[in-house]
Amino acid sequence: MLTLAIESSCDDTAAAVVDTGLRRVLSNSISSQNEVHTPFGGIVPELASRRHIEAVQPVVSRALHEAGVTLDDIELIAATQGPGLVGSLLVGFTFAKALALVRGLPCVGVDHLAGHLLSCLLEEEMPEFPYTALIVSGGTTALFRVDSPTSFTRLGRTRDDAAGEAFDKVAKMLGLGYPGGPIIAELADKGNAKAFQFPRAWLDKTSLDFSFSGLKTAVRNAVEAAAQEGMVPIHDICASFQEAVVEVLVHKTIAAARANRHEQVVLGGGVAANACLRSRMQAECERAGIRFFLPSPIFCTDNAAMIALAGYHAYLAGNLAGPDSDAYSRSPLH
Ligand code: KG4
Repeated sequence: MLTLAIESSCDDTAAAVVDTGLRRVLSNSISSQNEVHTPFGGIVPELASRRHIEAVQPVVSRALHEAGVTLDDIELIAATQGPGLVGSLLVGFTFAKALALVRGLPCVGVDHLAGHLLSCLLEEEMPEFPYTALIVSGGTTALFRVDSPTSFTRLGRTRDDAAGEAFDKVAKMLGLGYPGGPIIAELADKGNAKAFQFPRAWLDKTSLDFSFSGLKTAVRNAVEAAAQEGMVPIHDICASFQEAVVEVLVHKTIAAARANRHEQVVLGGGVAANACLRSRMQAECERAGIRFFLPSPIFCTDNAAMIALAGYHAYLAGNLAGPDSDAYSRSPLH
């Protein structure tokens, strides 16, 4: 089923055309807003929605053009309905509903997290159901069991900051710019991960929840103490911080897979681009006899191809959006 999807939950405007039945991505177009938000060290919601308004039509046209199709070929329209910044979501979702209405096409509202949970199915080599998935991004850090393309059960989530948010805040603390994750990862490469013993929040023994606020405070204290001595060892701080985040993410993911007797683990979300997290997860999965699936970087960050696939399954399940359907900021899955 030829599906046109739009994603505008945060700061990227994305559109994709996917032959969803065949899992073939014909185009996957993204317009980034990084240069708009970088001077502020984080996303400014009002600026994000204004930029989505400018970008949505050109990005959709580009996705259709790159796929070599026209609107006449499209059979289903999907758009992210939530969670995210409501002003941003409303741009993409309203555009999709209006387009569907005008063209007489079915329209589905997609949960952004469902997109991340299914993004590994866009790859040639994909897991079978059920599997354990860790979604780790700027807005989410959560573990799920995925039983089917429409059945997701949350096993644990962050009680405060998302891991990506912690990366961004630590980068801001160190004056490194936004988004902080890639910059910290690069600096960490040249640092000693054992230089600082930052805290790991394991929480209750069997808890699959996460917490990164204590870690963030510990980093702030270390930075302030080092600044008073006249020299902040940025590389070592980045490496030790990254180590603390990765250790907890990997440990809890393997524990979740074991508790659910899952033989497959899937990683998704923007922080999945982190090389240390990827290699550590791979190594620990191998050690535990678990198969590890990692979508290509383009399907890990916010993208519309995953929204097309999740939208197709929502459509098959009969979950259609009407003209009155509204965007939501918090996910029922979250
Ligand atoms: O999924 P995503 O593209 O957007 C949303 O959060 O919606 O994820 C962006 C997040 C940012 O917090 C960014 O700092 C983080 O992913 N990130 C990374 C890396 N690349 C992006 N964090 C750690 N290491 C990276 N290499």
